[in-house]
Amino acid sequence: MDKWTVHDADELYNISRWGEGFFSINSDGHVIAHPKGQGKGDIDLKYLIEDLEDRGIALPVLLRFSDILARRIEDVSLAFAGAIKEYDYKGSYQSVVPIKVNQQKHVVEELITSGRPYHLGLEAGSKPELLAAIGMIDDPQAIIVCNGYKDFEYLETALLSCKIGLRTIIICDRFQEIVDLVRLKNERNLVGPIGVRCKLAAKGAGRWSESGGEFSKFGLTANELVKAVDLLAQNNMLDQLKCLHFHIGSQVTAIRAVKGAIREASRLFVDLYKMGAKLEYLDVGGGLAVDYDGSKTNFASSANYTLQEYATDIVAELGAACSREDVPHPVILSESGRALVAHHSVLVFNVLGVNELTQTDALLPEVTDDDHEILHDLKELYTNINAKNFVEIYHDASEAKDQLTNLFTLGYVSLRERAKAEEMFLACVRKMMALAEKLEYVPEDIERIQKKMFDTYYCNFSVFQSVPDHWAVGGLFPVMPLHRLGEEPKRRGIIADLTCDSDGKIAKFIDLHDVNSTLALHNFDGSPYYVGVFLVGAYQETLGDLHNLFGDTNVVHVSLSETGGYRITHHVAGDTVADVLEYMEYEPKELIRRVRMATEEALSSGRMTFDEVRALMARYETGLSGYTYLEGEDQMLTVTDQNGQTTKARENPRQFPHISGVQAAVPVSPVAPVAETAAQT
Ligand SMILES: Cc1ncc(COP(=O)(O)O)c(C=O)c1O
Repeated sequence: MDKWTVHDADELYNISRWGEGFFSINSDGHVIAHPKGQGKGDIDLKYLIEDLEDRGIALPVLLRFSDILARRIEDVSLAFAGAIKEYDYKGSYQSVVPIKVNQQKHVVEELITSGRPYHLGLEAGSKPELLAAIGMIDDPQAIIVCNGYKDFEYLETALLSCKIGLRTIIICDRFQEIVDLVRLKNERNLVGPIGVRCKLAAKGAGRWSESGGEFSKFGLTANELVKAVDLLAQNNMLDQLKCLHFHIGSQVTAIRAVKGAIREASRLFVDLYKMGAKLEYLDVGGGLAVDYDGSKTNFASSANYTLQEYATDIVAELGAACSREDVPHPVILSESGRALVAHHSVLVFNVLGVNELTQTDALLPEVTDDDHEILHDLKELYTNINAKNFVEIYHDASEAKDQLTNLFTLGYVSLRERAKAEEMFLACVRKMMALAEKLEYVPEDIERIQKKMFDTYYCNFSVFQSVPDHWAVGGLFPVMPLHRLGEEPKRRGIIADLTCDSDGKIAKFIDLHDVNSTLALHNFDGSPYYVGVFLVGAYQETLGDLHNLFGDTNVVHVSLSETGGYRITHHVAGDTVADVLEYMEYEPKELIRRVRMATEEALSSGRMTFDEVRALMARYETGLSGYTYLEGEDQMLTVTDQNGQTTKARENPRQFPHISGVQAAVPVSPVAPVAETAAQT
């Protein structure tokens, strides 16, 4: 067999396909990020994580690459600009990012800053989101689109925001909102640009296709659109109807669905214009899909089209429909969320321990004369397994194991014998798996057991907090180790989180042709083993919850610096235990007081010593102010600096530079005193 190389790792984890040029593997076998694209500066993720740990920023950590965000905005805008030029389209294009995709202030700020050259705006789906958008947008040419269920207060706020120079468009998702806008004009003389969301007959494709179609939650039917035009005309407001909007669902996996929707929406646009609405915008909603598995198919976690095809189909179809009927080409707005922000975040956590079911070098249990005869049978079965008989032996071994378990339940064999039977059976299965791997056709029974034979890698994170879509809707994300990729990963495992829930795991992984139930991983020997979950920038952070009181993770924003290294531009500290307890209305001070009182009782009744009281109170108080995840203190050495301050440092201090061919921007010695380290960051 050929020697394993990093190219094999690339193939195995598909990184070139889903990475969109933002991630690859270097010759050291480490994942590297190219936030501005290939050849424009790299960041070695393993070294970056080690640097963060050296600064005292514990795992799990969410890395946000600001330059990737900027590149995605640019890519989408350039794709539309290219199509506009190619098709001689007379209108322009503007992005209106749905704030719900990632409402975190620093992300929104970066979107606005990087999107300024393109007048990037925001889409609000609720009143709180509108208030955030009003406070954040400072470009008079950027557009705020208001979607969602709107009450009077929401509508009024949106209309008033136009008076401070914002371009806020209210998209009426229900007919009642048109009625309310008419009332606001007649009673309060408040007017502003109006849009209507239409219910298209054309449906989306993929997991969220129900967001579109005639029975979708929001949007006006053809009949309601006509009534809306009439009502606005009767109230001299038809000139305010500026925008037609549609949204056929998130993650539209098939280009056919996009084509169908834009064709129908273009017809509606033209007819509404001819009915007297001075439409200036067509908002194509969100839905531009992310190819999470890199398969480029219409599978739920993929997309069978490119960004350029998407932009071209929209521009070409709309341009042609308008030109045919002499209708001015509108400004195209799109509300792409995940396509803009998914790529920029990577969740990184460390492996804490492994339950090894597939261990091939496990010792056979010793079977003695005193053991039950079934154990002797099992041992013989094990010895006789070969490529020709292993299915038959599998059945015999299963039966033997079941018989022994029954005998145990009836009290005829001991727990020790039952344990030996379990081990012996597992040894048989492992031997069979090794034989099956060499076969082209694997019998069904063996395939079934093969799927159950995996290791469990316990990892320092919570699926519910950091990858909720995996748990809630089976969303797939690329998961892979960040290093050791020059070494063949010989284990198959699933990723289990820290929660006590059996659902708290990642047990479905991307594959080019299917969904994998296990992930290829390296043998865990206790030294740091970092795993990344990629493309988690969209929806995951705010949908995440506090299951088992695991809070927000640490977040760092990483940018390539002008000198070629990297800079940490923001660090958002993860929740402490006290934070999450306070969310649940506990008062940490009161908890400490109660525990203190309990220790006094224990002291006076002689159940505790002073030392034990001190130890418990110290654990309790530092526990409250600590991270909700495991901080892995004991993986680090304790170092005392010249001021007598104690910090943790790595056993083998690393040297800079970590970043391909350039000096790291923030050279922090792992043994530097804390104050100095902090000053440099
Ligand atoms: C109205 C609206 N616009 C835009 C989006 C963003 O969709 P996506 O993130 O798939 O681009 C959504 C999400 O479903 C939405 O409901």
